[in-house]
Amino acid sequence: MIFGGDMRSSGGNGVAQADSAIRRRVVGGAAITALGGLLFGYDTGVVSGALLFLRHNFGGLSNIQEELVTSLLLVGAMAGALLAGRLADRIGRKPTILITATVFVVGVLLAAFTPSYAVLLVARVIIGLAVGASSLTVPLYIGEAAPPAVRGGLVSLNQLAITIGILVSYLVDYGLASSGNWRLMFGLAALPAVLLFIGILTQHESPHWLVERGRETEARAVLARLRRPDEVEPEVTEIREVISRGRGGLRELLAAAVRPALFVGVMMAVFQQVTGINTVIYYAPSLLHDAGLGASSALLANVGIGIVNVGMTIVAIRLLDRTGRRPLLIFGSAGMAVGMCAAALAFLGGTHLSGGRAAVAIGALVLYTGSFAIGLGPVFWLLISEIYPLRVRGSAMSVASMANWAANFVVTVSFLTLLSAIGGTGVFFLFGFLTLVAIWFFIRRVPETKGRSLPAIEADLRRRSPETPPQQQLPPGQMGHAA
Ligand code: BGC
Repeated sequence: MIFGGDMRSSGGNGVAQADSAIRRRVVGGAAITALGGLLFGYDTGVVSGALLFLRHNFGGLSNIQEELVTSLLLVGAMAGALLAGRLADRIGRKPTILITATVFVVGVLLAAFTPSYAVLLVARVIIGLAVGASSLTVPLYIGEAAPPAVRGGLVSLNQLAITIGILVSYLVDYGLASSGNWRLMFGLAALPAVLLFIGILTQHESPHWLVERGRETEARAVLARLRRPDEVEPEVTEIREVISRGRGGLRELLAAAVRPALFVGVMMAVFQQVTGINTVIYYAPSLLHDAGLGASSALLANVGIGIVNVGMTIVAIRLLDRTGRRPLLIFGSAGMAVGMCAAALAFLGGTHLSGGRAAVAIGALVLYTGSFAIGLGPVFWLLISEIYPLRVRGSAMSVASMANWAANFVVTVSFLTLLSAIGGTGVFFLFGFLTLVAIWFFIRRVPETKGRSLPAIEADLRRRSPETPPQQQLPPGQMGHAA
């Protein structure tokens, strides 16, 4: 079992059996839903390798045309994140994921069979819509089905799936390199998309959303599959109580009680991107190649970075429900800052790296990526599934995810220009500095949510809002220490 929290019971054999059935359903449901994360990772990762072969088609692509193939996915993702949150609040989590899986299949097949460059661009926007939608619906849906004690690990299966998706895309690109079959590189994603659709059909609607819609009998039936019998009624009551306090709609989203959480989510989203992760994920091979490494060493180093990304995410999943979110976030970010500064120093003597400096650069990028994977990577997507009131959870997650995709877009399209303007040392020091600013923000503003039920987190955040008299407010980071 890779989860850190405790779901076990101390009861007799019958209780233990019932518990293991519950665990199977909870973990199985989360794993199926996380296929959405796999698609997120695969579709964002596959393009770097596919471009190498794609660029000789359709009469040859210019640099700008290549950039469009990459970045239009990010534009689509912004729109997908915007639409999916409202949809998930209106029609439910399950139908929204089914629609997302359908859009994935359509987009991926369109890209694989595209007759022209223009249609390929349309396909990339469609895939982006689905990637953006799944980036928030997956953690949302898993988070609402998960028992509080293991929620951190379960929701972060999404991040694990993202990293596996990225790694698989590198390997597929590498494996298909000799045939140059970019259509298959894109098209293979149809498989997990179909599996996601079929898998979600076997799952139930989120109990939180059902209570919110007044469908308590159905919610109880769903919870009965996912909780011990004595946990069902208190959870329904707890959800009902927080709903009675919220108003819902756009007003609630911008209400003083929700604004602090909205701010934290958006800032974490921006920090997750402006500290440079995707410059490593998308550009590491070309960066190392340009710095003098042979193509195959650069690709190998890249696969190494991908493996560390997956491995450290597994470590995070084990720790999130034990140590809590804040320590991993803060220490992970500190490791990222050290990694970026070391990378900056490696590039200090010029852009051509040889011998020791190449090893330092690769080591620095590995340290940076591993530190991201244990902290800011999983914690951002986890926290935004935990800190918003149920009435506006989908819409609020939309805002945070959109901010993430927008920041990703800005960094991705400006990175190469920035690199030629201020060099590797300048760019990496900039990322290192921004990581320090991020750490300062995390220490001051990010709450601890370990082990608490979502309604309890919501009640606490309301108590911390500016509408609450100062004497009843909680300091940052304190949430979660008291039950
Ligand atoms: C980020 C992605 C990034 C991935 C890398 C995710 O948490 O949102 O932008 O590519 O982690 O593992």
